[in-house]
Amino acid sequence: MDFKNCAISRSIQTKNGVWRLKQNVDMSVPAGDSAKGKKIFTTKCAQCHNIEAGKGHKTGPSLWDIVGKKTGQGAGYKYSDANKNCGLTWTKETLYKYLENPKKMIPGTKMVFAGIKKPQERADLVAYIESMGEPK
Ligand code: HEC
Repeated sequence: MDFKNCAISRSIQTKNGVWRLKQNVDMSVPAGDSAKGKKIFTTKCAQCHNIEAGKGHKTGPSLWDIVGKKTGQGAGYKYSDANKNCGLTWTKETLYKYLENPKKMIPGTKMVFAGIKKPQERADLVAYIESMGEPK
């Protein structure tokens, strides 16, 4: 698998037989409020993404049940190579990092979105995204 385009992998993971987190990277995510996250999703993401089960892709891929999946796995969605080949697993932590600056984390992404600078907004959003999936 090709990780060279995927800054987020380089920034948080190190290859040493297995992919594991670099020790010096703070991956903690503040507690989030999913009700607030839903409002943020509606204003900042919903024009391009569905997140309810069975709703399908829009300009961007469906984000239903994204937590636990690898990048670029939405069946039937035509991803950029950058997003498809990133090889990162979406978790609360990687979503929280990615959403701060998507273009920096996945250079070459076709997601046109500046990012969310406020940590609490990202934490709320990630709590909502995590709640929108199959029970784990
Ligand atoms: C202007 C449209 C647009 C907006 C707004 C937008 N996205 Fe995206 N998003 C995309 C597109 C297009 C892709 C596919 C990127 C690619 O293939 O390079 C994407 C990809 C993603 C992915 C990767 C999905 C995967 O299967 O790997 C995540 C996660 C994501 N977006 C989350 C969000 C969230 C959360 C928001 C709101 C904060 C948001 N996006 C706002 C268009 C958008």
